[in-house]
Amino acid sequence: MDHLIDKLRAKVTKASFNPDFIHHKWFVKYHLNIVEQIALELCDIYKNANRNLVKTLIWIHDYGKILGIRDGVEKITEVTAKLMEEIGFEQEFTDKAIQYLRIFESKMEFELTKAPIEVQITSSADAASHMVGPFYSLWWLESPHKTFEELMEDNKGKALKDWNRKIVLPEVKKAFENRNRFVMENSGDFPEKYLT
Ligand SMILES: [Fe+2]
Repeated sequence: MDHLIDKLRAKVTKASFNPDFIHHKWFVKYHLNIVEQIALELCDIYKNANRNLVKTLIWIHDYGKILGIRDGVEKITEVTAKLMEEIGFEQEFTDKAIQYLRIFESKMEFELTKAPIEVQITSSADAASHMVGPFYSLWWLESPHKTFEELMEDNKGKALKDWNRKIVLPEVKKAFENRNRFVMENSGDFPEKYLT
């Protein structure tokens, strides 16, 4: 299984460096690698989680976005399943990963606290990674046509969605509470007091 996941990582990494993908300069280093690290730390806590499934979900969760697919989950799951089949994953494993990817994608309609632990880990790690490194600043860099107020509003919307819908594991909420407050403050949400 390890060599299949290595192949998956290599293929997604290669696709991420395609200059047609707007985030190609930083997406592996400042997003996918960080998501993977947080997710593997969570696997050390949630020992019943299937690590291979988590690693697979990490490397497929943004594959549709990397390819520039904007027209919904059907197309995304179709190309992702095709990628996994080409690499040589067993059909049963691919079907499960795709089923979990669909649950991951349904975060706005479905309460992810009720999702399988592998989905909860992937979703929590994905959202938490946005608070590490230059992620939010890169949105400003890549959207020069917007006013700074619009950029603040964009980041606030993303931070709220991440915090309220995507981060479902208590260990992540606890570890990232201060970072979340800082992101919200960067987006205009000021505290009443600064020292106490
Ligand atoms: Fe992501």
